[in-house]
Amino acid sequence: MALRLFNISTIITLSFLLFFLKAQAQNGNQHRPYTEQYRPQFHFSPKSKWLNDPNGMVYYKGVYHLFYQHYPDTTVWGPMHWGHATSTDLVHWKHQPIALFPDQEGMIFSGSVVVDHENLSGLGTEDSPALLAFYTTHNIDELKKGSIDYENQAMAFSLDDGLSWTKYNDNKPIIKNPGIKDFRDPKVSWHAPTNRWIMALAVNDHIEFWSASNGIDWVKESDFGADKGQHGRVWECPDLIKMRVDGTSQEKYVLLVSLGAAPFGGSGTQYFVGDFDGHQFIVDPNFNMPAWLDYGRDNYAGVTWSNTPEEEHLLIGWMNNWDYAKKIPTSSWRGAMTVPRKLSLHAVGENYHLKNVPIKPLEALRTELPTLKKLNLTAQKNTAVLQENIDGGAFEVALTLRQINADSVSLVFYNGQEESYIINYANINGLLSADRSQSGNTVFDPKFLGARTQAKLIGQKEIKLQVLIDWSSVELFANDGEVSITNQVFPSSPFSNIKVISHGGDCTVSDISIYRLSSIWGAGYQ
Ligand code: FRU
Repeated sequence: MALRLFNISTIITLSFLLFFLKAQAQNGNQHRPYTEQYRPQFHFSPKSKWLNDPNGMVYYKGVYHLFYQHYPDTTVWGPMHWGHATSTDLVHWKHQPIALFPDQEGMIFSGSVVVDHENLSGLGTEDSPALLAFYTTHNIDELKKGSIDYENQAMAFSLDDGLSWTKYNDNKPIIKNPGIKDFRDPKVSWHAPTNRWIMALAVNDHIEFWSASNGIDWVKESDFGADKGQHGRVWECPDLIKMRVDGTSQEKYVLLVSLGAAPFGGSGTQYFVGDFDGHQFIVDPNFNMPAWLDYGRDNYAGVTWSNTPEEEHLLIGWMNNWDYAKKIPTSSWRGAMTVPRKLSLHAVGENYHLKNVPIKPLEALRTELPTLKKLNLTAQKNTAVLQENIDGGAFEVALTLRQINADSVSLVFYNGQEESYIINYANINGLLSADRSQSGNTVFDPKFLGARTQAKLIGQKEIKLQVLIDWSSVELFANDGEVSITNQVFPSSPFSNIKVISHGGDCTVSDISIYRLSSIWGAGYQ
């Protein structure tokens, strides 16, 4: 009897111990992944394996949803699922179970989510509306057989605020492929004047607009763009956004289009500004084409959140480039998003300009570091170190270049291994450029070191720079988002030092602020 009692109590104690150890291990596993080399500290990346385009971003009941192209089995692109994460501040993310799995109709390619507030689909109720997800099914078996109609548009709906999804009509197409190879990436938005949903669809070398009052029975309205803007490789991931022109009551439509033939190398996103009457998009006659959302190499397939409060146009992009995406030297995961950005539209003479800046809530990650607020660079003393050994390797710098008599001024981020990332403003021609040729591992793919990324600034008297540096990326915003340059970097250790150099003359550097940025990953957030 005593022996039996001993056994039972031993078993109970051991079970508790095992349970405790398991819980500890799980906790450890949860937090460990976000300290790997190159792991973004304040950008979204999947817990493990492959990620590409952001999908289905929607704001609903205080929660921002981010779905994304995901292959949960390996770190290279494969059968696409929709991964899922949620956030209440767009800064900290909580991983959710995979939302959509591939099936007999094919992989689940990119698309969008809307809230069916008026229950026009009949799938929810007005009190408890359905969320509708529109996406492309990509049937690889059909593709292998030589068919050309292997991409179709399908729909799924959620009756529990986006946590679980039911494929509509067994995932059969709601828009059937008319016999075109590239027919994908539906982005749906509400058009109030005609009381219908409008879908922008990427169709080979142009965008098609479709409409449906119930979100289910779609009719084609028009084509745009075969003879407009930048071409070369197919157009992908459109977004039609109604925006107010800053400081006016004028409303314009902005059409985003991603494509694989950007002038700065591979993947890039162009935009058009014009009007949309519910049927047709007409680009403004004075709009200068092509125009680019970002001049770096690593901001692709970006689209905006739906259902956000009026006039908030929030975008997130895939921080990678198809030129080398499958080879970036990360370990257990591959792919990350840009920081979420706020878009604004500005009239510049007869032209329009789309600006993008990091969203304000990111400021919650800042800890200001003591630094000189202002300094003068001269031909004699042309270099100043702004900060050294920034703890954590994730930080933000803001400064303004004034009285620029130098030929050019460089802002340099570097580590102790002689690796650096150089932002340069050339006073002579107003070109802002970024150079990652010495930034660490650049040899994993020959296409990683392409052309220097550069852009011309409109205003050239004062150059305001804001730079966000993470363990494997640098995002530059100049003159309040007039130009952004987003690039990945793979230094042996994170950059932790900053210096500024004037070449061939004087320059004043003022309004200097440097912030350490804390990691968004930690207890409670994963
Ligand atoms: C853009 C893209 C989309 C497609 C998805 C597939 O990066 O090619 O056009 O839906 O990726 O993963």
